[in-house]
Order: sequence, then C-alpha cells, then structure tokens
Amino acid sequence: MTYTEFLPSEYAKTVSEGKVTYRAPSNIALVKYWGKKEDQIPANPSISFTLDACATTTALTYSKLAEKGSGFSFELLFEGKDKPDFRPKIEAFFNRIESYLPFLKDYQLKIETSNSFPHSSGIASSASGMAALALCLMHIEKQLDPSINEEFFDQKASFLARLGSGSACRSIEGDLVQWGYHKGIPASSDLFAVKYPFPVHEVFHKYHDTILLVDKGQKQVSSTIGHNLMHGHPFAEQRFSQAHENITKLKEVFATGNLKGFIEVVESEALTLHAMMMTSMPYFILMKPNTLKIIQKIWQFRSTSKTHLCFTLDAGANVHVLYPQEEKEKAHQFIKDELVAYCENGQYICDRIGFGAKLLLP
Ligand code: DP6
Repeated sequence: MTYTEFLPSEYAKTVSEGKVTYRAPSNIALVKYWGKKEDQIPANPSISFTLDACATTTALTYSKLAEKGSGFSFELLFEGKDKPDFRPKIEAFFNRIESYLPFLKDYQLKIETSNSFPHSSGIASSASGMAALALCLMHIEKQLDPSINEEFFDQKASFLARLGSGSACRSIEGDLVQWGYHKGIPASSDLFAVKYPFPVHEVFHKYHDTILLVDKGQKQVSSTIGHNLMHGHPFAEQRFSQAHENITKLKEVFATGNLKGFIEVVESEALTLHAMMMTSMPYFILMKPNTLKIIQKIWQFRSTSKTHLCFTLDAGANVHVLYPQEEKEKAHQFIKDELVAYCENGQYICDRIGFGAKLLLP
C-alpha cells in the first residue's frame, strides 16, 4: 500500500447530516516507537497490546454546509465543556488528513469526547482520542462511498490516526498490533498498523496491565519533542536495529508462550526508551524516584514469588505492571501491599488486553 491508495476518487453519494460514536482503546507498546521521519513515518517498527478499560469515546455530529468552508468548521467539547486548548491539535490533524478526506471542509462538525480514565492521570489520551476521531471520520467517508469494505475501513482509520499521533494507529484493532515495516511480518507497513498475523500462545490472550499512577502532572517534555531528539542521537541507529531484533525475538515468545523471553524484551525496551531520553541532547528524565522504587520491588517480588510480573513504561513516570491471568490474585495482593504506596494518592487503574475499537449507538 502507498499513500495514494488512501486518496479517494469522486464520491458516489452525498450525505447531508448524521451522528456517529466510537469508543477507541488506549494501547501499551511492548517494543517502543521512539523516533520518526517526515509525515509520521516511524524510525522503527513497534508492537503493542491493545487495552480495554482505558479508552476515549467520541461522538461526531456532522451537517453539510451550504457551501464548502475556507477553513474547518468544528466545535469541540471535552467531557461536556468547551476545550479551546485542544483545538490547535485537531486543526493540525485536519490539515494533515484533508487530502485523504476531501469532504472535511464541506461539513460543520461537532466533536464530543471523553476519556474513561481520569483527566489528570498522566495517561496520554492522544492514542485513543485520535483513533476514535479517525474512526468517526471514516464513518462519514463510508456514507459517501458505501463500497468501502471493513479491511480498508480499518486500514485507513489507522492510517489517518497515525497522522494525528503515531501510536494512535495501534488503537483501532486488537489484541496484539504491529506498526512499521518489519521483514518478518507480512503486510507490515510504516503507513498503518496491522493485527499481529501469527498464532499467539494462549497465555497472552488474557494478559493484565495494572497502571500505577506515579505522577499525574503534565510531562516536562512532550513525546513529539522526544521523538525529534532521536535525529542526530548518538545511539539512534543501534536503537532502531535493536527494535527490529526485539520484534523477531517476540515472534518466538508469542508462539511458544516463553514468559522469561517476554519479560526480557519488554523490560529492556522500557529501559532503553528512557535511556534514549537520558542520552538525548538536551537530555531529560521522565522517571521519578517512585518509578525506580516500583521497578526494584517488582524485581524482588518476581524472584521470590516465582511469578512473571514485569513492567513497562511509556513516555512518563507511570509504571505498567504486566502479568498473565493465572497470576492475577497474587499480583493484585502484591500491588495493594507493596506498590500502591508509591502511587500518587494511591491511584492505579486495572486494565487488561482488549480487542479494539467499537462502534456505539449514536
Ligand atoms: C513512548 O504516539 O505519543 O508511548 O507521534 O508524536 O504523537 P506522536 O507520539 P506518540 O509517541 C508514543 C511514544 C511511546 C511509545 C509507543 O507508544 O510506542
């Protein structure tokens, strides 16, 4: 697939108004996307678990304008209230995707969005938010061109979501999703994410992710700035090849259910991501003292309990604790007894692997 396949030709139908609602989940990368080229092309492939509880629900109401606007006409409500500070991001997104959805300026749009997780949780809502909005826009395109099939619908939604926020392209489908060209993964592409195409051992079908909210404040360095610092980074090339190798390693892990191998790749990826931040110029640290305390506790617990809890991190201080379904009771007990103390106001979110975005009744 190339860009051009997502450029529509003349639409067969016209649509005057409607409303659509999608719920799109967040995702947690096992092999991390960190570094990108022009047009949101990732510097390396990444792979993620789609989540279930952490999600954004977006309703899009659309009505055709008497004539095409010179700009985008949209109203934006976040949890029922006007959200002027989100507008520039949406405006930039619309500008990037307009050539792929040429009807955008033909409609007055009302975007009503809300997250299932607390607003100031330090959890990025851009992945689930951009995915939900991209799906709503694809719904309009499908009204205009009913010949669009399910596969193309999801692929283009992922393609559009990527242009809003890279990791958002992994929030359309579930449960294990890969984005970025990798020679061992057929149909993998830099342009959109695909469902992991090989058999996956049952231990990974019901994986859990408990998100420990270590620091709920605004990050000092945004992901976009962090990605850019990979240009000219002294370790960039080695890091990008390592991501390819780690995806190759995960293929064996997913096929066999090798949890030791899983832990090794996932924890190393998390620490490498943060090592890249610490060795950028300017350098920065997003982990907090409690992030490290939690990591140490997890290592201690794993060695004494013979369980398979492991951690991953996104671009922030929060810790994602990953574990298989069979270890749920022990993991919950350990989290309550030993880790909650390191969370801001004792807050954490119990999530698990999920199966992708859903169309809701308007
Ligand atoms: C550390 O997708 O938030 O979570 O494309 O600039 O919007 P933009 O970045 P974003 O980066 C996510 C980085 C990460 C790793 C990952 O999700 O793969």
